[in-house]
Amino acid sequence: MPPTVHVTGEVPARVHDALEESFALVDRVEDVDGILSLLTTRVDGELLDRAGPQLRVVANYGVGVDNVDLDAARARGVVIANTPDVLTDAVAELTIALTLALLRRVAEGDRFLRRRARWEFSIEFMLGETLRGKTFGVVGPGRIGRAAGALAEGLGARPVFAGRGDDLAALLATADVVSLHLPLAPGTRRLIDADALRLMKRSAVLVNTARGQIVDETALVAALRESVIAGAALDVFEHEPEVREELLGLENVVLTPHIASATRETREAMGLLAVDALRAVLLEGRTPQNVVA
Ligand code: 8YV
Repeated sequence: MPPTVHVTGEVPARVHDALEESFALVDRVEDVDGILSLLTTRVDGELLDRAGPQLRVVANYGVGVDNVDLDAARARGVVIANTPDVLTDAVAELTIALTLALLRRVAEGDRFLRRRARWEFSIEFMLGETLRGKTFGVVGPGRIGRAAGALAEGLGARPVFAGRGDDLAALLATADVVSLHLPLAPGTRRLIDADALRLMKRSAVLVNTARGQIVDETALVAALRESVIAGAALDVFEHEPEVREELLGLENVVLTPHIASATRETREAMGLLAVDALRAVLLEGRTPQNVVA
């Protein structure tokens, strides 16, 4: 009998096929050997106990593992793997797409035309900001942050990097674009609060393709309304999938529904990497490439 695996949501056909080649897929979580979890599944002690003591591995379909209680997994001897690297370029690309959409008012212009607003070309109509020459601040200089910085540099911006420590205040005070690339953890929750937003230049914008809870959204809405900062581009939200009503009414905000890694090739590569982690533990007796617990 092949090992049993439970998948907590829909996956691309190629990933499903790869799973079926190696495992018996089951609808229930009870008594399985492995779990492929999506970020919308909370993998906590309760879920691990429901699965049972034979559970050996949870492969999380994503690089972020904030949906997983790593201590609970360690305590039960369950291996946790994630899917880094293969999504770096896709997330970095969307970061730049959001930055340009915001600075060049792409979404705003699109909304404007769809309203059938009257317009004619004029020299000072809908002026935005050029990215070239600006300081692109990367908060969280990991793989994705560095890739986003490199793309910004390719477009003529000057990338600067900071973590969540002492260098953050200086970055916030000088960057024209503040782009978040940190994992969600106790030390990064609401890192960008009212005080942090006040440190930013009034002309600066915030871009978040990391996790919504890194930003205090109430403080962000207030900062946008009171022109404490010039704009925001958000792919992730504090209470996902809920998007705050106040954000929807602001023209200087660009919103996307958590699609930073959502390209066909990236999502397939992530899924296949997760399958490889399940295979490593359940069939090949080796440690997966990307173990986080
Ligand atoms: C995915 C993500 O959309 O990798 C992450 O941490 O947030 C995204 O790439 C998600 O994990 C898919 O389940």
